[in-house]
Amino acid sequence: MAQPQQRPVQGVVRFYNFLSEETSFLDEVLAGLEKPQKALPPKYFYDAQGCSLFEQICELPEYYPTRTELAIMAEHAPAMAKFLGPGCQLIEFGSGSSRKTRLLLQQLQPPLYVPIDIAGDAMRAAAGSLAQAFPWLNINGVCADYTKPLTLPAFVGVPIRRKAVYFPGSTIGNFTPPEAIEFLRLARQTVGAGGALLIGVDLKKDKRVLDAAYDDAAGVTAAFNLNLLARINRELGGDFQLRRFRHRAFYDERKGWIEMHIESLAAQFAHVGGRRFSFSQGETILTEISCKYAVDEFRALAQRAGFAPVQTWTDATGQFSVHAMNAVQ
Ligand code: AVI
Repeated sequence: MAQPQQRPVQGVVRFYNFLSEETSFLDEVLAGLEKPQKALPPKYFYDAQGCSLFEQICELPEYYPTRTELAIMAEHAPAMAKFLGPGCQLIEFGSGSSRKTRLLLQQLQPPLYVPIDIAGDAMRAAAGSLAQAFPWLNINGVCADYTKPLTLPAFVGVPIRRKAVYFPGSTIGNFTPPEAIEFLRLARQTVGAGGALLIGVDLKKDKRVLDAAYDDAAGVTAAFNLNLLARINRELGGDFQLRRFRHRAFYDERKGWIEMHIESLAAQFAHVGGRRFSFSQGETILTEISCKYAVDEFRALAQRAGFAPVQTWTDATGQFSVHAMNAVQ
C-alpha cells in the first residue's frame, strides 16, 4: 500500500507595525534644523528611493563593507550557528535586504526569526522571499524604529532555548559610542539572561580607503545623502533646492568616524512645516556619522553594555569584523 506523503512543516509569517505617529518625521526634522550644527537623523535615509540607493552603494567598488562582511559570513556561518546553538530565536535589527541573514538561517535553522526594520515595505519584501527560500521558517516581521525601546510580540507554541540579536552591516557605527552603549544595553534587555549578540562592525583603516567608500566616483552616495532633502520636499512639503546643496563626506581620524554632511552652496532659505531655515554659504547639515572601531575597542564598548566577547571573525586584510558575544548574567 502506498505510504501517504509527509508534507514538510510550513512556517508561519506574521507582520506587526509598531511605527509611531506620522508626525515624528516632521518633528525630528524641525528639531534637527534648529540646532546650531544642523542635523538630520540617518534613519530617515531609508524611504523607497533611499533603500534602492543604499542597495546600489552596497555594490560599489569603493564600498567594501558589504562584500567583506558577506565573505566573512560565507566562510564562518557554520561556526556562528554553532555559537548560537539550536532553539535560538534570531532577532535582526535593520534587516534590510537580509542577504547576510540567508547564510546564517541556512546553518542555524532557528525556530523563529524576527526581522525589525523602519523600512516596512523593504522588510516585508525581504521576509516574503526568505519565507519562499525557507518554507519551514517562522517569521515575525516588525516594522519599528529599533533605536527606541520596544516590546516584541510573543510567538506562542515555538520552543525557544535562547534569544540572540543579529545586527549586521556595521549599523552600530551610525551611533556615537555612548549611543552605541545605550543601544547595546537595550539589545541586552531584549535577549535577556542566557542571550547572545552577533554583530558586524567596520574596522579602522587608511583614511583614503574610508573617504572613497563614502564619496564614490559615481556619485551614488551623494544621491543617497541628498535624497534626504528630496524626501523632506516630497513628504513634508519642503522647498529645498537640491542644486544648491552638495554632498560632503570625510573620515575624521581624531574622532574615529566618518562624517557625512549636506553643504549649502549659497546663502539661502528653505521652508519646512511652515518654518523658515536660513543657511549661510558653506554651512552644513550633519546627516550621518559612521564610527570605525579597532577589535579591542569594540569589545570593550560591548562589555560596558553587558556583553562578554566570545569570538571575533575578520577578513584576511582586517577590514571588517563580526563579533559573537554572550549576555553577562
Ligand atoms: C547603514 N550604514 C551602516 C551605512 C554606513 O556605512 O555607515 C550607511 C551608509 N552611508 C553612506 N554609505 C553607507
